[in-house]
Amino acid sequence: MLLIMPKLSKTEQTILELISNDPLISQAKIAAKLNLARSTIAVQITQLINKNLLIGRGYILPKSQKVTCIGGMAFNRKYSLNSAPIFGTSNPAINIKSHGGVIRNIAENMARMDVDVCLLSIIGDDESGKELRTQMHNLGVDTSQIAISNNKPTAEYIAVFDNNNELVMGIASMDILDQITPNLIEESWPNIKSSDWVVLDCNLPQETIKKILDLKQKSNFKVAIDTVSVSKAMRLPKDLSSVDILFTNKDEAASILALDHILKKSDLNTIANQLRNRGTKGVVLTDGSNGHIVNIGNEVFTSPALSSKVCNVSGAGDALVAGFISQLLTGASIREASDIGAALSALTVESQMDVRQDLNSKILYEYLSKNLK
Ligand SMILES: Nc1ncnc2c1ncn2[C@@H]1O[C@H](COP(=O)(O)OP(=O)(O)OP(=O)(O)O)[C@@H](O)[C@H]1O
Ligand SMILES: [Mg+2]
Repeated sequence: MLLIMPKLSKTEQTILELISNDPLISQAKIAAKLNLARSTIAVQITQLINKNLLIGRGYILPKSQKVTCIGGMAFNRKYSLNSAPIFGTSNPAINIKSHGGVIRNIAENMARMDVDVCLLSIIGDDESGKELRTQMHNLGVDTSQIAISNNKPTAEYIAVFDNNNELVMGIASMDILDQITPNLIEESWPNIKSSDWVVLDCNLPQETIKKILDLKQKSNFKVAIDTVSVSKAMRLPKDLSSVDILFTNKDEAASILALDHILKKSDLNTIANQLRNRGTKGVVLTDGSNGHIVNIGNEVFTSPALSSKVCNVSGAGDALVAGFISQLLTGASIREASDIGAALSALTVESQMDVRQDLNSKILYEYLSKNLK
């Protein structure tokens, strides 16, 4: 119930109006709408309660669990040539741009599900960087920890497809991500250590991953890691005992374990057990259309892929991480988190985009209830 009193500041009045129109609005969404930090909104709401201007705590979400996502964000440009490629000259093409980077995708999925998420990454001092940051801010993500490089452009991934939609060439220009240094982590440490979960991707330099895992030992948050690619997975340290959940696909796992050709054919359970032997408290091992297996604590089970209407498989693993961790934040069981992860990855492979643009919690739960056998 709202009790409107006279002499409110403009911000207080706007917050009351927003809550009145949408009683379940998150603090992160209010912050994005007012262009203020979420912590400022939390303070304002507390003041409104203290002044009895807001009655009924039901209107205010309980203190949300916070996730800090640390890793790569990139600007993707896809060029489709009008005709067969001719090298050494200019080729007319159609250009489609999108936003990418594994941790950015994870953060976007989480924000669309109303998770309180902070993104720590780096952009160049350029238009594509500003666009990436603005989009995340507008989704309610805390972008205050995104650094701006003074000498490198925003990371880009460029893919050129021929007139038969076959990839001619992919170009990854990601040097800037090496500037997410251990020093940058130290500067953001007050922010990171107040998180409930920290999610990293292996776009980070090896020494930065190590730094976060070292610092984690003195902190209360949990850590999840997405290994990104076969080559970047090798940036993980040998000792994984500071990791709570390692999200990796079969090829990336083989790379971490340096499996030879024969061992690569081992079943998923054997590979997950070998990863557990490296110290991680949990593994979620994905295998495309074969689904995923979970090996966390004492829980070991297999989960099939849900989708049959595959449209674009890129971003499926990122979605699985986002769904899984978001669900754990609500206090759900590992099994429930696994189901939500599978549902979100299925919804993602059914969409053209690497992150589903119409995603919200309602769509996700409806999909799960229709598709889970
Ligand atoms: N072809 C597919 N059909 C159905 N489901 C799929 C398919 N590909 C992926 N998925 C779903 O997405 C999950 C993760 O997929 P995958 O193992 O391909 O991750 P990934 O290699 O990390 O992908 P990416 O890094 O591109 O996001 C799978 O466990 C499955 O639930
Ligand atoms: Mg992946």
